[in-house]
Amino acid sequence: MIQPLNFISMIVQTYRLRNQWITQLTRSKATNNKNLIVLGIETSCDDTGCGIVDSKGTILGNALYSQHLLHLKYGGIIPPIAQDLHIKNITELCECALKSANMKLHNVDAVAATVKPGLPLSLSVGRNFGVRLSLIGNKPFIPIHHMEAHALVARMTQQVDFPYLVLLISGGHCLLAIVQNVSSFFLLGTTIDDAPGEAFDKIARRLKLKNLIDFSNLNGGQAIEIAASRAESPTQFSFAAPLTHSLDCNFSFSGLKTTALNYILECERKSSIIGDKVIPNIYNLCASYQLAITRHICQRTQRAMEFINRHELLPNDHRTLVISGGVACNDFIFKCLNSVCSEMGFACIRPPSKLCTDNGLMIAWNGMERLMTNSGILTNKNDIANVDIEKKSPVGKDWTSRVREENIKCKWIKIKLHKN
Ligand code: KG4
Ligand code: ZN
Repeated sequence: MIQPLNFISMIVQTYRLRNQWITQLTRSKATNNKNLIVLGIETSCDDTGCGIVDSKGTILGNALYSQHLLHLKYGGIIPPIAQDLHIKNITELCECALKSANMKLHNVDAVAATVKPGLPLSLSVGRNFGVRLSLIGNKPFIPIHHMEAHALVARMTQQVDFPYLVLLISGGHCLLAIVQNVSSFFLLGTTIDDAPGEAFDKIARRLKLKNLIDFSNLNGGQAIEIAASRAESPTQFSFAAPLTHSLDCNFSFSGLKTTALNYILECERKSSIIGDKVIPNIYNLCASYQLAITRHICQRTQRAMEFINRHELLPNDHRTLVISGGVACNDFIFKCLNSVCSEMGFACIRPPSKLCTDNGLMIAWNGMERLMTNSGILTNKNDIANVDIEKKSPVGKDWTSRVREENIKCKWIKIKLHKN
């Protein structure tokens, strides 16, 4: 009988052979055939994006409108407002991206748009617009999974061969997965409550960081990262590590958030802070909180690497961790993950910041990877007109319980408290 673990390795071997074939096919298409062009549309949350790329990964056109400042004023994303703004901006943004590429719709080979997961009101705008462009221009339509696009975009600017480990950390998601190829993922861990970006945003808001001039226009994660870099005593506040009894790769941030909230209340009470004022030790609290979030992310990632190494799920001489999503812009987290990678024998790759956060280019690139491997392309007008959006959509095949069943104990790699 095949043991379950050998079975995992067997699946991976099969995929490896398939990947070699896909890589060869992709390269020959990109070099032998004409240079393809894909237009991608992103509206899954509060960013309206349109990007145009070619098969070599060249950025031909790009336009992005972030609703962030408006939602900052309201204290969170209000879906109907987000939808109105997407509707208001999408036409102009796509025109602008085409203009910057010096192109018209007839110059592109396919239209890609995010259809899952995300806020339904937001998703519907990009989906409808993309479908309309595809039908008007008589172009194939490529429906895109937002998280898969985050996971693949590193390949647009750097040499990253399949398979690799990806860590996606953003405002709405947190997951670890093996990327076997464009359309095949194995999920090793995911969050059981909040996402790290959400944990940063909520505490930044509660700390009233936007009342301080240096932070007034920043998102929560950026604000906490900069505030943390000014800390005198970054370990002043202690946080219990989450999920220490679950020896898996899942994440949990809600406990850290509650602990931070309690510290804020205690500091406000002790220093009689009211109204718009902020607590005196705000920088130290930001640093301690960021450290706790980082430590949790690093430990779950280390366990994923131990699991991978145990079963040789990535080639021994070529193991890569790709980090993406908005929280990946955090340099402190990136440096700590780099240390984990070097101890574990992994290369550490992060796309440029503008490709880590939500954007239309990553959707265009995911469309390009699909176009080049002929995977998930719609050409039939009825199929295109009937494409659905999905609020929730898991990434890949779920291996989270397989990881848990192994109870992998790790000797944690120490996090150095370097100044940012
Ligand atoms: O990927 P993204 O643009 O949108 C989602 O799909 O969620 O990520 C946005 C999130 C926000 O929660 C923001 O606070 C976080 O990314 N973020 C950061 C940093 N820059 C953005 N978090 C930590 N440190 C940063 N420098
Ligand atoms: Zn995202």
